[in-house]
Amino acid sequence: MSGLQTERLDAGASSLDRAAEVLKRGGLVAFPTETVYGLGADARDGTAVARIFEAKGRPRFNPLIVHLPDTAAAQQLVIWSDTADALAKAYWPGPLTLVLPLRDGHGLSPLVTAGLDTVAVRVPGHPVAHKLLSAFGGPIAAPSANPSGRISPTTAAHVLAGLDGRIDAVVDGGPCPVGVESTIVDLSGSAPRLLRPGGLAGEVIGLTHADTPADGAPVTAPGQLASHYAPRAAMRLNAALAGPGEVMLGFGPMQAELNLSVAGDLVEAAATLFDCLHRLDSMGRPIAVAPIPDVGLGRAINDRLRRAAAPRPGQA
Ligand code: TXA
Ligand code: MG
Repeated sequence: MSGLQTERLDAGASSLDRAAEVLKRGGLVAFPTETVYGLGADARDGTAVARIFEAKGRPRFNPLIVHLPDTAAAQQLVIWSDTADALAKAYWPGPLTLVLPLRDGHGLSPLVTAGLDTVAVRVPGHPVAHKLLSAFGGPIAAPSANPSGRISPTTAAHVLAGLDGRIDAVVDGGPCPVGVESTIVDLSGSAPRLLRPGGLAGEVIGLTHADTPADGAPVTAPGQLASHYAPRAAMRLNAALAGPGEVMLGFGPMQAELNLSVAGDLVEAAATLFDCLHRLDSMGRPIAVAPIPDVGLGRAINDRLRRAAAPRPGQA
């Protein structure tokens, strides 16, 4: 979608208040971090988060990093641990992202975590990011502020070159000092794992690339595995009607027990997708899913539905 007037904001206090206001009403704001510019949205607002994927033209829902003003704010969202504490004390604020188990009542949109029970959190070291997070007063989900498949932006001009007219505002805080994305460490398993080398050298934290899978394959987040977060019951895609015993997941005006968007709006459909999958899972009946147009966010929705419908381990 384009046709938005993208506001150019400087990094002064009144501009950051303005940026916080845009976030509060569900808008998208690109802002500088020490690594790269992020494309931020209220992490609790599923529709706002869906708009991130739409603006980037992302063909699938990768889990996003949640940005927070300080460690205490992170502790509200995740189950904290001694290792997390040691790493946070040493490297936050800074270019380090920690993946930790979600805490009950976290309030994040499931689109942020791609339906996983873990979340990636980070406290950025850039003063403008910190001021924006404080002015907003909530968690900001933000991938890099570039169209999908393009190079990450390290200036406001880079952001505008890719996303002008597709986002509500960009805060110009000058060039990013680090220039590569944050290092991601997964602390949700029995031992810390380096998921992405980045702005904080792995060696510094005692993890090297050797901690990633031995075959050297690019590390994929669990959300990208073929059948992760699939309902237990069988799922049939591109169904015109529910068969006997099936529960229908609709799209657009139609007869269906659950509907991703009665209005046929892909942004709304993306925002409700994971919630619908959870609800379908609790019903335990086979599922028929209406066709979703394979354009824009529809591509990400279909990617996720195909994974949810894929045969899973232990299933014939
Ligand atoms: O430097 C950065 O980290 C930048 C700035 C804007 O902060 N952000 C960034 O976000 O690079 P993004 O969305 O491009 O990177 C998110 C990556 C996912 O692709 C995935 O690899 C990992 O973080 N990730 C997020 N949540 C995860 C989870 N629950 N489990 C495993 N990996 C996760
Ligand atoms: Mg990126």
